[in-house]
Amino acid sequence: MVANWKMHPPEVAAAKSLLLSIKKVASGLPHVQTVVCPPFPLISTFSALLRLQRKVSLGAQNIFHENAGAFTGEVSPLLVRDSGAMYAIVGHSERRAMGETDEIVAKKARAALHAGLKVILCVGETARDPDGDYLGHIRKQVRASLALVERKDLNRVLIAYEPVWAIGGTHAVAGHDIHQAVIFLKKVLGEIYSNEVAREILVLYGGSVTPENVTDILKHGAVDGLLVGGDSLDIKLFGPILRAAETVW
Ligand code: PGA
Repeated sequence: MVANWKMHPPEVAAAKSLLLSIKKVASGLPHVQTVVCPPFPLISTFSALLRLQRKVSLGAQNIFHENAGAFTGEVSPLLVRDSGAMYAIVGHSERRAMGETDEIVAKKARAALHAGLKVILCVGETARDPDGDYLGHIRKQVRASLALVERKDLNRVLIAYEPVWAIGGTHAVAGHDIHQAVIFLKKVLGEIYSNEVAREILVLYGGSVTPENVTDILKHGAVDGLLVGGDSLDIKLFGPILRAAETVW
């Protein structure tokens, strides 16, 4: 269960207090692994706060595709790892909207994996069309984004299906529709690799997950986890979402 905090909250004190309340809920859920992805400057502080427990891990929301160099403003995957993160989100639609292409996403995925991080690779269509052309778009995104990933590293790749039109609202995709998308993603992974690899790769759903829709998504969506944005910033909302995962699974 991944919390993508995006560029929130803007104060360290509020961020620490939110992390500690998530830690409190998460440590009581034996079957759920929680991953908090805060803004970069919080990763090492949070790592110190989370020491000696295993139920909450940290992730970065982005990384650069080189380990070091003259790249002003970019962040090395090695530094992210050494700061205490175990995961990196790669190819989020908000980054793609800033100009990140599939080719850049592929390089970032490779760099994150080489640094020893697990990759949460985001894919998803901008809009759905009645003819199903969006499926072709997803296939292309998956193929291109994984193009530089070595087979031996696939066990550290998670795919997050995030339809762009469903992000940041209050209406998620219905569980049954998510299930169809998961079947499609597994088919594409089967085409690229093998059915066995397709079965093993974890698939998450992201886009307007709330305490109200979480049970439907977990029961009918056939996903292995969720990527939660807005509702991960309030423990009154994220707490019930985490607890639902424990109950449904
Ligand atoms: P949301 O964001 O839950 O606010 O829709 C999800 C995401 O962008 O990862």
